[in-house]
Amino acid sequence: MNDILPGSSAAWQHLEATLRDVVHAYGYHEIRLPLLEKTELFKRSIGEVTDIVEKEMYTFEDRNGDSLTLRPEGTAGCVRACMEHGLLHNQVQRLWYNGPMFRHERPQQGRYRQFHQIGVEAFGLQGPDIDAEMIFMTARMWARLGLQGAQLQINSLGTPAARSAYRAALVDYLHGRAAELDADSTRRLESNPLRILDSKNPDMQAVIAAAPRLPDYLDDESREHFDGLCALLDAAGLVYEINPRLVRGLDYYSKTVFEWVTDRLGSQGTICAGGRYDGLVEFLGGKPVPAVGFAVGLERLLGLLAAAGVELPVNEPHVYLVLSGALAEQRGMVFADELRTAIPGLRLQANCGGGSFKSQFKRADRSGAAFALVIGDDEAAQQRVLLKPLRERSEQESLSQQDVPARLQELLALVPAG
Ligand code: HAM
Repeated sequence: MNDILPGSSAAWQHLEATLRDVVHAYGYHEIRLPLLEKTELFKRSIGEVTDIVEKEMYTFEDRNGDSLTLRPEGTAGCVRACMEHGLLHNQVQRLWYNGPMFRHERPQQGRYRQFHQIGVEAFGLQGPDIDAEMIFMTARMWARLGLQGAQLQINSLGTPAARSAYRAALVDYLHGRAAELDADSTRRLESNPLRILDSKNPDMQAVIAAAPRLPDYLDDESREHFDGLCALLDAAGLVYEINPRLVRGLDYYSKTVFEWVTDRLGSQGTICAGGRYDGLVEFLGGKPVPAVGFAVGLERLLGLLAAAGVELPVNEPHVYLVLSGALAEQRGMVFADELRTAIPGLRLQANCGGGSFKSQFKRADRSGAAFALVIGDDEAAQQRVLLKPLRERSEQESLSQQDVPARLQELLALVPAG
């Protein structure tokens, strides 16, 4: 579980604001959900025999003896909230959320026990157009962030009936090669055989390569849906790879699944993942409602932006106000607020706690500000101020205080945002 320190919070804000702009551009509305849900909700939604439910949930009993769990993901809680508040009756919902998720995994680069997702869910739409919209939205996120090189993988898991026919064929095949299975796969053979296809163990790859293929078991409806999605992606010129082994680690999916992956983050290379989960609302006791969504892992996305050398903002102040002398200190605090009113968006740090010119300039330098404004008692008495560039070797200027807003605005237009 990481602390996000002041040096990186501006990058987080930039990331969140950019992704928020994108989801708003598609007409999605924010939903804010509790961090805790009843344990049963996750067991039922994600699946009893998934890694998340078997090994990774932070579960405890509260004072009433109810079993609660810190959310390991956002979809289950989003569905629960929509059902509870009647948001799914003959209506379409396009929703998004942002916040921490908790999984007791083995921590490593890109894999944390508290991590953050921006998730998007759409309810009530069954065609492939909304699946495509989800994918367009993610592609736009990367473009807006200046990120290149993430690869899109898609697959169809079919309807539950198609999947269980496939599951039976796969189990049959794997039983025939039982001697070659590693311990993990042997364990999964009865509980969750599709996940064996996900195995990264090199010794398992020959067994996996010769396994029956999910696409060969797809029902007509799922195939048509998938073809429809591919046609929409083609029309948009989006490049994708059909990965018949993409199965996802949560049980609620049906039909479309997709992931955006990169090879620049080591073994935790999935920055975004999602898919359709048409059966979940009904499974949780509602009327059948088609649904599709995805979640972006913000730590991984930030890691990828850093690896790709994309410059991220740090939000240093534009201006540091140096104040020397009693009159300057008094007048200066008022002047600082006048400037903040005159220039929306101005980040101005005023010196507090006195100090010599030398020590104040040191603080100004450390603040990262591009300019210092200096008021000594002489300037204070004459309503003037010195403006001194801190990052380049140009001359300082003496200005009347009332001319400062216009001059600063002129100069700040030249300073890159952030
Ligand atoms: P997920 O694949 O479990 O799907 O997680 C989505 C993304 O969250 C991953 O691709 C990854 O970027 C990030 N992530 C997952 N676990 C960790 C971790 N331990 N540390 C850092 N990042 C992590 C879901 O959660 C589904 N609810 C997505 C969804 C929404 N499907 C439909 N709607």
